[in-house]
Amino acid sequence: MKGIILAGGGGTRLRPLTGSLSKQLLPVYDKPMIYYPLSVLMLAGIREILVISSTEHIDMFRLMLGDGSRIGVDISYEAQPEPGGIAQALTIGARHIGDSPVALILGDNIFHGPGFSSVLQGSIRHLDGCVLFGYPVADPRRYGVGEIDSEGRLLSLEEKPAQPRSNLAVTGLYLYDNDVVDIAGSIQPSARGELEITEVNRVYMEQKRAQLIELGHGFAWLDMGTHDSLLQAGQYVQLLGQRQGVRIACVEEIALHMGFIDADALHELGRELGTSAYGAYLTEVASRAPEAV
Ligand code: G1P
Repeated sequence: MKGIILAGGGGTRLRPLTGSLSKQLLPVYDKPMIYYPLSVLMLAGIREILVISSTEHIDMFRLMLGDGSRIGVDISYEAQPEPGGIAQALTIGARHIGDSPVALILGDNIFHGPGFSSVLQGSIRHLDGCVLFGYPVADPRRYGVGEIDSEGRLLSLEEKPAQPRSNLAVTGLYLYDNDVVDIAGSIQPSARGELEITEVNRVYMEQKRAQLIELGHGFAWLDMGTHDSLLQAGQYVQLLGQRQGVRIACVEEIALHMGFIDADALHELGRELGTSAYGAYLTEVASRAPEAV
């Protein structure tokens, strides 16, 4: 399974924060926004990851994440010259995907909840068609909205409907089999000139090969497209961190747990981060690990 993080878009709703910075590099409490989707792909066991961002910003991601080897993954980069829609990530990423299945995640989505890693790994093992993740929200009109039958099969799908048929928002994490490359290549731009991911998902739905897994109570899904939601996400991460002593989406720690790096490597990453509390956390996690020196 390959992974793609789409970190494009103009970030217009976050101006002036995004005047010179990419939205997905903005701080969400203790780490840059892109760490959160990156952590999801790593928890799914995915190690070959493509980051897509605008021509203007792609080098900043490269500078920050490098080739990924420090956290035991392989990260490559492609530019999306113009924001052409979420589904364009699948055509830009076609070479990266090759003949594999792929997980696409939006660079501004946070997923956090018990057992998410197993849910992801199980969905990938049994993938036939596409798997989407639904989350009940108070105002579904802001999102893609799905309706499912008792087996979780998708019955209807609409993008930002004025009159939603359910309260299940389609989150920004999509698992696809390899057919997605052809499907994304065959859809036409919408009225707003974008390749809509909802169109891709609709093709799978019509083939009765689209599953929507509901992320239920006790699960947090946050997107960070506005000033309020960005601040709330940071506060959520801070609150859990201070209350439980855990750091959400700590990619270095996840790399250790997934067996991508060993405790010595984690210790070194902590040391490099110097006096920051994040660095101290890595060092502490490394020293608690069984194989630590
Ligand atoms: C996009 C998708 C929408 C999805 C949302 C999740 O919307 O088009 O279907 O529900 O991401 O974050 P956007 O945030 O680009 O308006």
